[in-house]
Amino acid sequence: IVRDVAGVRAAIAEARAAASSPLRVGLVPTMGAFHEGHLSLIRAARTSCDLVVVWLFVNPTQFNDAADLTSYPRDEARDAELAAAGGADLLFAPDVAEVYPDGHATTITVSGIADVLEGAHRPGHFAGVATVVAKMLNMVQPNVAFFGAKDAQQVAVVRRMITDLNLPVALEVCPTVREPDGLAMSSRNVRLNPDQRRRAAALSRGLSAAKAAVDQGERSATSLTTIIAAVLAADGLSAEYIAVVDPSTFVPIDELDGRALLALAVPVGPVRLIDNLEVAP
Ligand code: PAJ
Repeated sequence: IVRDVAGVRAAIAEARAAASSPLRVGLVPTMGAFHEGHLSLIRAARTSCDLVVVWLFVNPTQFNDAADLTSYPRDEARDAELAAAGGADLLFAPDVAEVYPDGHATTITVSGIADVLEGAHRPGHFAGVATVVAKMLNMVQPNVAFFGAKDAQQVAVVRRMITDLNLPVALEVCPTVREPDGLAMSSRNVRLNPDQRRRAAALSRGLSAAKAAVDQGERSATSLTTIIAAVLAADGLSAEYIAVVDPSTFVPIDELDGRALLALAVPVGPVRLIDNLEVAP
């Protein structure tokens, strides 16, 4: 477990110097409270990289809701064990002062793509994400960074930033890991009571129903959102948004004629769940 930038850089420099061929360093950014989704990223990094660095930092600047930050689950000792078991070489777990030293005054804002859906409902969220991801990429300087498709808009925002800032890193996107009933794994799921947990499966059921409609010829985005809203309503849920967008730009699509991303956010009891599914006619 490394706490500071100097320490992580020294460890990586030492490994690079000791290697007989160029070392492929993988970075897995996380906020901890590991579940199978996080572990799938760590395993993917282990499979394709020589050195696996797991970043564990509950980033305050991406929480637009103070209560959400306070109640965010934390268990570093457990996370450290799981990361090691998954094949991580280094757990980089800096404290807030190491990431945001006194006087910190630079924020990265990605326009357009970061302003819609999650960006519109969580003001400042993606500026916090883009800034901390840019910082960790500069601190660790990995060859490849691993992200989950669960947070599709985060992937699109980070991809845009990497392109725009010419950051020398490859981005690898791993599929969403789900519970047996389809619920996308999330650190926030532990805060659902049994009834809420049962109803939460409606998010993925709604997405699957819309995908089935696409497979049967449906092309209208309005019809697809209506199908999803009906599945949610049957479990007493109402979405914050249901959107059909271009998977890379997040521009809305009215009529499907190529790949499209179905994305939604739904409050369930004390938590706000998100999910998405890519479809194609
Ligand atoms: P966190 O929510 O901890 O997620 C860390 C990584 O795990 C993200 O890339 C996320 O998409 C992925 N992930 C979460 N649930 C998943 C699932 N069910 N299946 C597959 N992957 C899943 O995302 C963040 O942290 C932060 O915003 C971060 C990028 C670390 C910046 O602070």
